[in-house]
Amino acid sequence: MQLGKEISAVVTGGASGLGEATARRLAGFGIKVTLFDLNEERGMAVASQLGGAFARVDVSDVESVAAGFEVARAAHGVERILINCAGIGVAMKTVSRDRETSAVRMHDLGLFAKTIAINLVGSFNCIAHSAQAMVDLDPITDDGERGVIINTASVAAEDGQIGQAAYSASKGGVKGMTLPIARDLARDGVRVCAILPGLFKTPLFEGLPEEAVKALSASVPFPSRLGRPDEYAAMVQHICENEMLNAASIRLDGAIRMAPK
Ligand SMILES: NC(=O)c1ccc[n+]([C@@H]2O[C@H](COP(=O)([O-])OP(=O)(O)OC[C@H]3O[C@@H](n4cnc5c(N)ncnc54)[C@H](O)[C@@H]3O)[C@@H](O)[C@H]2O)c1
Repeated sequence: MQLGKEISAVVTGGASGLGEATARRLAGFGIKVTLFDLNEERGMAVASQLGGAFARVDVSDVESVAAGFEVARAAHGVERILINCAGIGVAMKTVSRDRETSAVRMHDLGLFAKTIAINLVGSFNCIAHSAQAMVDLDPITDDGERGVIINTASVAAEDGQIGQAAYSASKGGVKGMTLPIARDLARDGVRVCAILPGLFKTPLFEGLPEEAVKALSASVPFPSRLGRPDEYAAMVQHICENEMLNAASIRLDGAIRMAPK
C-alpha cells in the first residue's frame, strides 16, 4: 500500500525501541499512529511528539486490547497497519545448579508462561482484534489490499541460546503462526509478515557496559555493529509498500547466527 495521511496505524510497544522508531517513521508519512504500551509516561510523550494517540494497553489481556482499539479507532478510524513490537526478554535455563548448595533448580514455570502470554498470545490477541475490523474496510489497491500486519519475532526463533527456552518458544510461535494467519486473511486482502531482528540498539541494551556492547557488535559479521532501530522501521516501511511480501519471515541481522552462549 502507499503510505500517506489517509492511513492509520497501531504500533504495540510503541513507547520504546523498535516500536518507537517504527511509529516515528510511519508518522513521517503523515500516517495517524496510535501507540499501545504499558509505559504510560513515555508512550504519551512519544504520541504527543508525533501528533498521535496513546492507549495504556497490556497486550496479554483481552479487555485491555479491545479497549485500546476503541481508543485508536475513535481517534483515527480503523487502522490499516498493525505492528506488533510489544515484548519482553527473559533468560533462565531449563534447570540450573546452585553454586553454593549444588541443588538443582527448575525453570520458573510462571515466568515461562508469562513470556508466552506477552510475546506470543499478546501478539495474536492484537492481530485478531485488528483483523476483525480490517477485513470490513474497503480495499485500497487494484489487487484488493485492505491492510498489513507485521509481527516481531527474533533470530532466537531459529537460533535460541542457552537460557532462552521461554523466549525462543515465544518467538518461534510468532514466526510459526505468521504463515497460517496470512493464509486465514489472504482472501480479505490483509497481508501478514514477521521480522526476525538480530541485535538492535534499544533500551534493552542500555544497561550493558561498553565492553559488552563491543563484544556483541563484534559478533555481527557485517556490518559489525548493533542494528539501528530506524533500520528495523525501514523494513516495516518496505513490507507495507511491497504487496508481494506476504507470509514472509525476514531475518534482519547482519548475518549473525547466535552461538549457544
Ligand atoms: N532489540 C533487539 O535486539 C531485539 C532483537 C530481537 C527481537 N526483539 C524484539 O523486538 C520487540 C521490541 O523490542 P525492543 O528492543 O524495542 O524493546 P523495548 O523494551 O525497548 O520495547 C518494548 C516495549 O514493549 C512494552 N511492553 C512490554 N510488555 C508489554 C505488554 N504486556 N503490553 C504492552 N506493552 C508491553 C514495553 O513497555 C516497551 O515499551 C520485542 O518483542 C523484542 O523481543 C528485539
